[in-house]
Amino acid sequence: MKSKSVKVFAPASVANMGAGFDVMGMALDGVGDILEMSKEDGDGLVIENESGVDLPEDIEKNVITPVVRSFMKELGQKAMIRIKVLKKILPGSGIGSSAASSSAAAWGMNELFERPFEGEKLVEFAMEGEALLSGTRHADNVAPALLGGVVFMRGYEPLDMVRLPVPDNFWCSVVHPHITVKTAEARAVLPTEIPLRTAVKQWGNVGGLVAGFALKDMGLISRSMVDVVVEPHRKCFIPSYDSLKEKLSAAGALASNISGSGPSVFAVSDNRERAEILSKVMKEHFDALGIENDVYVSHVLPIGARTLE
Ligand code: HSE
Repeated sequence: MKSKSVKVFAPASVANMGAGFDVMGMALDGVGDILEMSKEDGDGLVIENESGVDLPEDIEKNVITPVVRSFMKELGQKAMIRIKVLKKILPGSGIGSSAASSSAAAWGMNELFERPFEGEKLVEFAMEGEALLSGTRHADNVAPALLGGVVFMRGYEPLDMVRLPVPDNFWCSVVHPHITVKTAEARAVLPTEIPLRTAVKQWGNVGGLVAGFALKDMGLISRSMVDVVVEPHRKCFIPSYDSLKEKLSAAGALASNISGSGPSVFAVSDNRERAEILSKVMKEHFDALGIENDVYVSHVLPIGARTLE
């Protein structure tokens, strides 16, 4: 076998986007994971962490492992795979940290083996990493991290996804307060059944979100970014969440919600200046609570995972 190495990147992402629990997500610009990956003769997987961020030492607990194994199984070959994690979004951030690693790993494996699989199949491999972490194979972070843009998952069996157009003036402000919310815990608090009238509101909003992106209608997008199913059960994980939402709304946010399973929070606006103002509101909110935080102002990143070298 010819040895080969690649350096790959996959971006952070905002899952759920308000109403679309497990079925919608978007890629963020400017933050993500970088992996250096190589293949050579042999059989095995070695993962080294040079990112400066704490990751599990046991590779069975690293989300990259099931991605690599499922790829190799489908490929039907054996190889020695070495992966260095060079840059890592903080785990438990709510901006798709595990998804960025899983997606970069799926992308990198495909590059190492001369691209035997299409993007949709790579999403399937990357979902194995999400399953390890949260117990569920969901693609609302890995699909945008791999494909870029805003992605809607119509169904999972079989995987049926569509990339949606994004209005040019769609801006996203994100705050990552440095508190940890484990996805598995944030899923455990959710109800297993919801009343029909709640479901009606939610699927109206999901339809509105999809239509809003398809029509590039910022008004429809922002009216539809409302979550009556998940947000009420998760907001307790984020200190003074209701007050933050009120401040964002007063400062001109078109919508705001929890990013993925939290604790990150995102807000939408239709120009960069407003997005910068909202990021300041977010920062001040968590600074006042004595919680360290990072803020990002981002367009939707149109291209997801990519090869750097
Ligand atoms: N849709 C997922 C959730 C995203 O909200 O639990 C987090 O990985």
